[in-house]
Amino acid sequence: MAPTDRFESTEAYYARYRPGYGDPAIQYLVDRFALDADARVLDLGCGAGQLTVPLAAHAGEVVGMDPNEAMLAHARDRATEAGVDNVEWVVGSDTDLREGADVGPLRLTTIGRAFHWMDGRATVDYLQERTESDGGVAILSDEEWLTHGRDDWQAIVHAVADAYVDDQPEREHPDDIEYEDPWDELLSERGLVDVTSERFPTAREWTVDEIVGYCLSLSFCSPAVLGDDREAFETDLRARLAEAGDEPFVQHVEIEVLSGRVP
Ligand SMILES: C[S@@+](CC[C@H](N)C(=O)[O-])C[C@H]1O[C@@H](n2cnc3c(N)ncnc32)[C@H](O)[C@@H]1O
Repeated sequence: MAPTDRFESTEAYYARYRPGYGDPAIQYLVDRFALDADARVLDLGCGAGQLTVPLAAHAGEVVGMDPNEAMLAHARDRATEAGVDNVEWVVGSDTDLREGADVGPLRLTTIGRAFHWMDGRATVDYLQERTESDGGVAILSDEEWLTHGRDDWQAIVHAVADAYVDDQPEREHPDDIEYEDPWDELLSERGLVDVTSERFPTAREWTVDEIVGYCLSLSFCSPAVLGDDREAFETDLRARLAEAGDEPFVQHVEIEVLSGRVP
């Protein structure tokens, strides 16, 4: 299934229920890359603008680029609601970018929860050529909520989802994961310098409605994947969460900002 198709039925849930990255991570990027009114920023794989819109408040011009037009429609709405008017929304993937989208010269490119969809090496090479010296590339991640979540109640959600979807990844603690192609090494290998991973521990609070909405925002647990089982999934999930405790359910998560500078 093409990446765009996987998100087709999930955009509205994504826009509403996927959290942003929080002010400390945004402020870190602002300070590290000296974002100001002269800075041009690309948010590649911007989705519904969870990262693009807060960043735009600190930059002169921002390009939000994503291959999924429905996601971009939600991103536009988010920008309008926030009173942000310095973002140009562009339909395109990392391949489209490399094939000639006119985005430079850039101070910073951010890629939030989307680098795994891209040809990482080719994209970093391309971006370096269009980035000012001392500017950079930043990859933002938060732990995959169901599969790597740290809290017991997340294991319950994972177990319920497992009964309904076929290709949910195994649950694994974030500290135990061994990556085959670590992105910090990739950034260094392509010539970025001062490659740094900064982590921001965060506690997020969730209602049951938000937990259900979050699950439906996941490509492997979307309304399209669940099909006729969707109502039963929701009912089971609500029942198991009611047994597990009271709202709010607290999620302990680390936001990671991995970034490197263009020499
Ligand atoms: C999990 S969402 C992340 C969205 C947003 N950056 C965020 O942090 O919330 C992944 C996004 O990557 C986009 N995407 C998928 N393949 C892509 C590609 N090859 N190039 C750029 N973006 C891509 C999807 O359309 C989707 O909007």
